[in-house]
Amino acid sequence: MKKVIIRKTEEIENWRRNINSEINFIPTMGNLHNGHIKLISTAKNDNSNVNLVSIFINPLQFDNKLDLENYPKTIDNDIKISFSNGADAIFIPSNEDIYPPNNKNIKFLKAPIELSSALCGLNRIGHFDGVCTVVYRLLNLIKPKNLYLGEKDWQQLLILKNLVLRKKLNVAIKSIPTQRDFDGIPLSSRNLHLSKKERKLIKFFSSELLEAKKNFHQDKKINLNEIIKKLSAKKISIEYLEHLHPHTLQKARLEDNISLLAGAIRCGETRLIDHVFLMKRRPIIAIDGPAGSGKSTVTKLLAKKLKLLYLDTGAMYRALSWLMMKESIDYTKEEKLENILKDISIVFKSNTNSHQDVYVNNYCVTEEIRSQKVSSIVSKISSIKEVRKFLVEEQRKIGESGGLVAEGRDIGTTVFPHAELKIFLTASIDERAKRRKSDKNSKESQEIDLHTLKELIKKRDFEDSNRKISPLTKANDALEIITDGYSVDEVVDKIIELYDDKIPKETEIK
Ligand code: PAF
Repeated sequence: MKKVIIRKTEEIENWRRNINSEINFIPTMGNLHNGHIKLISTAKNDNSNVNLVSIFINPLQFDNKLDLENYPKTIDNDIKISFSNGADAIFIPSNEDIYPPNNKNIKFLKAPIELSSALCGLNRIGHFDGVCTVVYRLLNLIKPKNLYLGEKDWQQLLILKNLVLRKKLNVAIKSIPTQRDFDGIPLSSRNLHLSKKERKLIKFFSSELLEAKKNFHQDKKINLNEIIKKLSAKKISIEYLEHLHPHTLQKARLEDNISLLAGAIRCGETRLIDHVFLMKRRPIIAIDGPAGSGKSTVTKLLAKKLKLLYLDTGAMYRALSWLMMKESIDYTKEEKLENILKDISIVFKSNTNSHQDVYVNNYCVTEEIRSQKVSSIVSKISSIKEVRKFLVEEQRKIGESGGLVAEGRDIGTTVFPHAELKIFLTASIDERAKRRKSDKNSKESQEIDLHTLKELIKKRDFEDSNRKISPLTKANDALEIITDGYSVDEVVDKIIELYDDKIPKETEIK
């Protein structure tokens, strides 16, 4: 494809009509560095869309005239960098193109007060209004499928996500982690202005944040005053240093697994921001739903794609039911149950086909636990209080350090109530019966007629939803996905989109 530079807003429309492709959009204010390069190359590698980089120094987002005047302008180099890293087109509009005088169609937007009145918003009056205004204008002109933004400006990212939701824009926001320079300071166009001495101070600031992150991982504690003292001892002028909830930007709560430690400092004329995410454990995704909703297939693929551990809690209940059946144990007798729970070991191991096998007391039961016989008693066994207590504890042990996607019926409500993402996966009875019938892993289901399968599913739903202990219910904060008519890949992609929205990419970096 011929690489183009577009300078007029009117040309955008023509260009869009001719390219015959969806657009990845990377908005910038120029003076491109490795952070921007990462955005452009991520867009290029993500899909086969056409990549458009915009370079526009937006006057509306500068609260200080001098800052605007001094903003580095390196347009020739920016063009070279963009094209050599995957841009197919560059949009370099003028001020008059973006804000035509007397054009009543230009909407000057306000950023939501709850997000813009914290952190940088406190000292940069109108800054986020300006960002919203220009990005909204650009999105309306370019109409991209994907918008690529850096997590370095985390507050900006939240505000723009909110803009997309508020204005019901049909664009997916993709973020990339903060890119750091050789000395650990976040890459920023403004770094150009730093003297050697200032750079050293910023390096100290960033290394304090990174140190706090490391310590938090071990102690699960943060002492803001201590950090402030250390920075003040170096005569670093702190604009703010806050420990917040990463999405609401309200004060972090004790139960928050992921929180944001964000700061802004001033060095001479330059103001710099940096942040880290503090994590108690790696993220957990909880997937609940009735039998046959596609949970297992979706969860397995999701775990693989996100490189998370896959925890099939249903298989644990089945494994226990299998053992009870095999040993002809009368599970209504408390003592017998106690004995079996005391000695049972249920272990998941990856097999050579990169699937998971289930072992009960070192015996592989992967196939046997899917038998109709096991299916017929698993709901009863899993409604026994002692069984649930025992297996929920086992599941929590497996999930202690997070990094897993668990499927079951009470994951979001009971096992991991603080999971970062909760999905309630469901499908109509007809669809679920059809899926069961074509389940290659269950020969028995394939032999049962569709009508009987439907009745069995209805019965199982009733038992699961009406048992006293941990009944199958949707957690208040779970997102429901009805999978009828969607392929497994489509459902998995949707969940990954939701996950990406909740979990900063930066948390994936060790
Ligand atoms: O992050 C930036 O560089 C700017 O705020 C943006 C998103 C290009 C809007 O001017």
